[in-house]
Amino acid sequence: MQAVKATAELSDLIDGWRAFSERIAFVPTMGNLHAGHLSLVRHAGTIADRVVVSIFVNPTQFNDPNDFKRYPNTLEEDSRQLAETGCDLVFVPAEETVYPFGRDNAVLVDEPVISQGLCGAFRPGHFRGVTTVVCRLFNLVRPDIAVFGQKDLQQLRVIERMVADLHMPVVIEGMPTIREPDGLAMSSRNGRLAADERHQAAVLYRIICEVRDQVSSGRKEYEAIETEAMQALDHAGFRSEYVAIRCWDDLSAPVSGRPLVVLAAAWLGETRLIDNLPLST
Ligand code: PAJ
Repeated sequence: MQAVKATAELSDLIDGWRAFSERIAFVPTMGNLHAGHLSLVRHAGTIADRVVVSIFVNPTQFNDPNDFKRYPNTLEEDSRQLAETGCDLVFVPAEETVYPFGRDNAVLVDEPVISQGLCGAFRPGHFRGVTTVVCRLFNLVRPDIAVFGQKDLQQLRVIERMVADLHMPVVIEGMPTIREPDGLAMSSRNGRLAADERHQAAVLYRIICEVRDQVSSGRKEYEAIETEAMQALDHAGFRSEYVAIRCWDDLSAPVSGRPLVVLAAAWLGETRLIDNLPLST
């Protein structure tokens, strides 16, 4: 596995692979890798000739500067895991590489529909930061396919919309959420949970499982189900932001006959957790 920081070096490697018509799959990350990230890398290896992973903690998507400052940096361990998982190239750009004119002067990419609501309502500017950086990373890496986790379903849907609307020549693939044995979705933020919070965190998954069970047993009062689930979260010691039943494919308001999903976000102490589950009606 090669580790690359500069765009010229990245470009040379990508050009070399492209000259041999090799297909390139790309997994963008912010590092501090866990089994969820690695499942995307492994999948990328099964659908392409070359796998590129980026590690870049993108400042423009953090609405809370403290969250950015304390984002864990575990580059050495990440590189070791990537080398073992079939990654060909890890791209670790400096901020000046990604934002050559400075982050405050950056050309922004803003998706105006799917970014609204859900996490977008609680994290102003977050998805604009994500689309802005992912667009740049796509231009730098020029992948045929890019792989994202369904754990961040709104992010995945926003990126799909950006790619479709801007005619970007990349296929987006979404992969299922990898969970801890107690159901908690793996996340780089789980490491911030105190021992008692870590134990409590699995309740978020249990509550969205209850939503799934109610919907699959035929209950149709979605707003009441959402309210009850938020109350259950608050009762269990979370500070719930939302529990929402939406259409699976574009996160619009639920329409019967279309595949649905339940999404949730809640704080446990100082840690914000998100999760979602597809529903069968
Ligand atoms: P990061 O949080 O590092 O996540 C990188 C990728 O891993 C995302 O596609 C995310 O959905 C996926 N992922 C995270 N936890 C997962 C889990 N438990 N199971 C499966 N996949 C999981 O998401 C970002 O970084 C950034 O916003 C980024 C897209 C890199 C742009 O900066």
